[in-house]
Amino acid sequence: MCGIIGCNGVEGAASAITQGLERLEYRGYDSAGIAIIDNKKIRYEKKKGRISVLIKALKTQSDFVGSIGIGHTRWATHGKPSDENAHPHISGKFAVVHNGIIENYRQLKEKYLKLVSLKSDTDTEIIVQLLNRLYSGNCLETLSNTAKLLEGSFAIAVLCEDEPDTLYCVRKSSPLLIGVGNGVYAASDLSAINDRIHTLYRMNDGEIAVISKTEAEFYTFDKKKIVKNPEEFEKAESNCGKENYEHYMLKEIYEQPAAVQKTVDAYLENNKFRLDFELNKPERIYIVACGSAYHAGLAGKRIFEELLKIPVIVQVASEFRYSNPLINENTPTIIISQSGETADSLAALREAKSRGAKTLSIVNVRHSSIAAESDYVLLTRAGQETAVATTKAYSAQLAALYMLGIYFAEKFGTADSKTTEKLKSQLETLHTAILSALDCEMQIKELAQQLQSAEHIYFIGRGLGYAAACEGSLKLKEISYIHCEAYAAGEMKHGTISLIEKGTNVIAADTEPKLSPKLQSNIDEVVARGARVTAITSQGKIKADSVIKTPAVNELFAVSTQIVPLQLLSYHIARLRGCDIDKPRNLAKSVTVE
Ligand code: AGP
Repeated sequence: MCGIIGCNGVEGAASAITQGLERLEYRGYDSAGIAIIDNKKIRYEKKKGRISVLIKALKTQSDFVGSIGIGHTRWATHGKPSDENAHPHISGKFAVVHNGIIENYRQLKEKYLKLVSLKSDTDTEIIVQLLNRLYSGNCLETLSNTAKLLEGSFAIAVLCEDEPDTLYCVRKSSPLLIGVGNGVYAASDLSAINDRIHTLYRMNDGEIAVISKTEAEFYTFDKKKIVKNPEEFEKAESNCGKENYEHYMLKEIYEQPAAVQKTVDAYLENNKFRLDFELNKPERIYIVACGSAYHAGLAGKRIFEELLKIPVIVQVASEFRYSNPLINENTPTIIISQSGETADSLAALREAKSRGAKTLSIVNVRHSSIAAESDYVLLTRAGQETAVATTKAYSAQLAALYMLGIYFAEKFGTADSKTTEKLKSQLETLHTAILSALDCEMQIKELAQQLQSAEHIYFIGRGLGYAAACEGSLKLKEISYIHCEAYAAGEMKHGTISLIEKGTNVIAADTEPKLSPKLQSNIDEVVARGARVTAITSQGKIKADSVIKTPAVNELFAVSTQIVPLQLLSYHIARLRGCDIDKPRNLAKSVTVE
């Protein structure tokens, strides 16, 4: 997944583009580049490394002027991070930046570009070489013919020296927005251009945008002109930076109480839901997501099954779509996605819809592809999340799932009102318990000192504790680069316990009190083989080398409080290890490729 941006009719296009790229950097940051047309000639610069490296290089080129240009920040899919593999890619009169994957690039090279010596190892270069090879003198026609040959996902912005006053964009599967303001802009997401535009258009699959200095026209891949209606959008929240926090991740961990409170308050007031999802009681419910969103789904499954008394299937999106899922009009499908742009989750949404299922998405970005294509949307109010490792958006997803479980229980009449009323009032104060959970930070800092050099750390839990263990393990892995594994505690003895030896670090999430005695047995089993165990618990009974206490809450909501020490632990270990906490290696905030 990468971020692309383009603009036309913008004085100082280069700085507008680099500013936009800085806002898109969360989408990928191993290399970056820019191209502008100056005096009917394409000028470009591209560099391995962060956008700051590109900006530094541009500072040495005072004549990088022009009012039309394109830019790109990369997360490598084909070809290692390098200057040559960075975008834009150039061929003849064309420059191209691309977000997505061209799945048939090898076949296209074989068929059309056999004699062309490529300058990079990327799939994207095939696009620009094809444009050059097929160029008929008419850009729209050439783009139309080229787009029809491409398979996979692509959001591309194109410059052509023969049309120095026109910016072209093409979309299939990867997100692309067009904004009109003082000039016209194209971007992978709204954050890059939000403060520069007054009118917003969302490009759909199979569309080409022809962008002049003042307006955008839209065509199908068959060159049929189409009229698009603008989308409503809110001006961006002012991103007040890291404030007095060292990293965005720590700031966002501390923003979790507010994120949960705002999300709950948006839909639940005085114990009454402001939700209206036209759904009959289904045979079963699917929850589909990736990464941390999937882990939120694991926790959501528990409350759904407890209150709705129907099976809930939670699946990883990349597996769901190829598993021939047993989806029909009676199996509503919930898609959870912070960015609302995750390609696997978007594809799963489309798969569920194609099989007749009603779809409901829990997203944190209103103007996202998943929100746009869902039948219903529950928008979490976590605010913009900048750290690649999600925390507050994940916690807001949990709150959204708790609300949905209670809402559907009331709607389908599957839980008594005494139960639902109690849960709603506990949910309305959950944010205060999350706030209290933050009090463990000093203890966590000491624990981080002990664990910072660990090579392996195992996270175990039973029931909801397993969902917490999964998310705690992912957090630590993705920002500290320590190998971690989450395991159902009762399953350890069926093989994985062979890895436990003297000094092995194990973290146990004691989330469901009724399962504590069983979890204690599993803790004792690994201790007997030399493990050093840290337990996260809201009770005083669990015995372990270290015990981190969390506030007591309804066990159905306990992942929300128990994840806080695990997030803080991953943060402080990564900090001690000198890792790039907000932008970990190899990752990106929004994975818009399969
Ligand atoms: C979470 O810390 C990771 N960055 C990643 O697993 C993320 O949760 C996953 O890629 C899903 O992203 P989404 O919520 O935007 O769909």
